[in-house]
Amino acid sequence: MERTLILLKPDAVQRGLVGRILARFEAKGLKIAGMKLMRMDEDLAARHYAAHKDKPFYPGLVRFMTSRPILALALEGIDAVSVCRKMMGATFGSRAEAGTIRGDFGVSNSFNLVHGSDSKEAAARELELFFRPEEIFEYEFEALRWIYDPEEEGGS
Ligand code: RTP
Ligand code: MG
Repeated sequence: MERTLILLKPDAVQRGLVGRILARFEAKGLKIAGMKLMRMDEDLAARHYAAHKDKPFYPGLVRFMTSRPILALALEGIDAVSVCRKMMGATFGSRAEAGTIRGDFGVSNSFNLVHGSDSKEAAARELELFFRPEEIFEYEFEALRWIYDPEEEGGS
């Protein structure tokens, strides 16, 4: 089992797409381990996007991400990082494949609705930035037995 950080960005919240996007992750079989509506401040944005600090789009990205509330999610599942990245699609909405979140709901390069950790290491680092330990829930997820075949390799 792996955990990943997903953010529904300000455009997703403002456009009323939170339910539809969350429904896709739920329907795929990802378990919600943490979820909160929050407002990113400059400090959190700087830490979260440290790798992009010198990119030309960085100031606009921080302005966008701190402009309105976001929904932060800790999602859990086998290969959750790559499963979620596939569901999100390519970074730019206009290039993202139809059937993906970005491909179906947007056309913008920067207002691209969702963030997802891009590696296991990034996920661990980012989850710590957004959630205190007590905000991540460990509980029995009844659907699991029908989501993964226990006899399958990698099954639960
Ligand atoms: P994310 O981190 O949000 O999951 O997206 P990503 O991995 O697909 O893209 P990344 O390269 O990490 O870029 C982070 C976010 O910066 C904004 N961006 N704008 N205008 C631009 O050229 C541009 N390039 C990147 C996007 O909001 C992107 O998600
Ligand atoms: Mg990224």
